[in-house]
Amino acid sequence: MEHMDVHSWSRPDRIRVRHLELDLDVRFDRKILDGSVTLRFDPATDPELVVDTRDLQIHSVENAAGFELGERDPILGAPLKIQVEPGCSWVRVRYSTTPGATGLQWLEPAQTAGKQHPFLYTQSQAIHARSWIPLQDTPGVRVTFQGRVRTPHGLNAVMAAERAGVHFKMDRPVPPYLIALAAGVLEFRPLGERCGVFAEAPLIDAARAEFADTEKMIRAVEEMYGPYRWGRYDLLVLPPSFPFGGMENPCLTFATPTILAGDKSLVSLVAHELAHSWSGNLVTNATWSDFWLNEGFTVYLERRILEKVYGHEREEMEAVLGRRELDREMASLPESDRVLHIDLKGRDPDDGCTLVPYEKGALLLRTIEREVGRERFDRFLRSYFDHFAFQSITTADFLGYLRRELPVRIDLEEWISRPGIPAGAADPQSGAFEQIEADAARWEQGKPVDPSAWSTQLWLHFLRSLKAPDLERLEREFRLNEAGNSEILHQWLLMAVEGGFDPALPRVEQFLSTVGRRKFLKPIYSELMKTPEGQERARRIYEKARAGYHPIAQATLDGIVGAPVGQAR
Ligand code: BES
Ligand code: ZN
Repeated sequence: MEHMDVHSWSRPDRIRVRHLELDLDVRFDRKILDGSVTLRFDPATDPELVVDTRDLQIHSVENAAGFELGERDPILGAPLKIQVEPGCSWVRVRYSTTPGATGLQWLEPAQTAGKQHPFLYTQSQAIHARSWIPLQDTPGVRVTFQGRVRTPHGLNAVMAAERAGVHFKMDRPVPPYLIALAAGVLEFRPLGERCGVFAEAPLIDAARAEFADTEKMIRAVEEMYGPYRWGRYDLLVLPPSFPFGGMENPCLTFATPTILAGDKSLVSLVAHELAHSWSGNLVTNATWSDFWLNEGFTVYLERRILEKVYGHEREEMEAVLGRRELDREMASLPESDRVLHIDLKGRDPDDGCTLVPYEKGALLLRTIEREVGRERFDRFLRSYFDHFAFQSITTADFLGYLRRELPVRIDLEEWISRPGIPAGAADPQSGAFEQIEADAARWEQGKPVDPSAWSTQLWLHFLRSLKAPDLERLEREFRLNEAGNSEILHQWLLMAVEGGFDPALPRVEQFLSTVGRRKFLKPIYSELMKTPEGQERARRIYEKARAGYHPIAQATLDGIVGAPVGQAR
């Protein structure tokens, strides 16, 4: 299976790297990683090995005839071209990262829960691994690796791999975007035989309680789609600046602390990242245009897990919430971004990360399931994961397999290549939501409602169902400024900004200054930017908060609020 990836300089068709040996010092004093990587490959028949880099300092390359760093492209970074002798099968690159590395976030003690020690974590997806390791940074290449990581005294390092002290080992081949490292002062609590959670001490008990159902979730997927093939499944709760909800790093999901709601109401994120152990980590998108194969399948699996562990009603609610959010986001996207197989040439692959690959992708699978029946579809999916295990595949590979193994009457071409949602798509419904819509209508007529038993999902749907929300009354009756649930609080603050409700503005500022999750920041900043006073507020807040955001979130928000003078990258 050979496909050119427009987001990598590497030429795995000529020399393919198979294994990495990382040896790194975590230098908090200089905000750099410093050390070497040994790249092992099949005996060379080509004179040049090309790897990706972004803003790395290359000190030397051992076992090579020479090397040269090419010109830096703003999206791709710079190719490192290494001259090798015929038959050569390894080189060792000594290098350091630079403090602005897009795949690293260096946190000051003040940005952590414990406030005493610095913290570092990596985020390699989509093409940020190259900012901390020179490698063939394309999901079409899979590598095994070993790591040795030195940290200052008192801090521990963890990698998304099998762990033994400062040594790490991944003996199943993974795409580079799944290579991950974190360092800080961490506690660990077991959640079961093969799962557990890492977090800073102040969060560890909350994390253990929140994630208590993890083993149940693993069993639920295993029953449907076959054994979990990665040994341990642990979670790592990161400081609040983590730009995503979660990241499915193998053996060790990275997660935002904003899902610690106290009532397990936001653990769909755990179901999601766990599901990637099949859809994504086992069967991987070969290029970023095939990203929907990762995320669409994962959202479908996530909902199946939720249904098994928490019941049908919960699953329906999540599916309807997903569909509504998809429609809302799609309305603001150009037609070319409303397709599953997206053209990303000349673009940053992070730009393709809209709800389209997630929710439209999941809807396609749900539509197939509806046509062929759950039993046949589950059998198909299980054989799909087995057939393509530890491979990277394209949309065409999936379509070929589907046509062979499970012919359907659905117009797949329309789903994959045309914008929007085809007629005849599955249409999730929730009885509980119909009730809440009636409640919302009654409330808007001035009548009381009793929210004492509402779940997070009902709250979200209630708020989103209001036609002309009376913000003052919402705050008076429900005290939403004090909401402890991050999703409800975010929904409320967004509505408050939209409706110009001043008493919420201090809370908006506090939220934007403490949380770095891009999904929360982007809508609120965008909404603020719609009025002149809002713009002024957004710029003032952003100027102060920007340094605390992850480079990935900074890049997104620079595009919305504008980079503060002198800080443009
Ligand atoms: N792999 C993604 C996160 C990601 C995507 C990082 C693209 C970089 C580029 C992860 O599995 C994910 O989808 N996270 C979601 C949560 C999920 C429940 C929809 C998120 O972070 O919001
Ligand atoms: Zn995902």
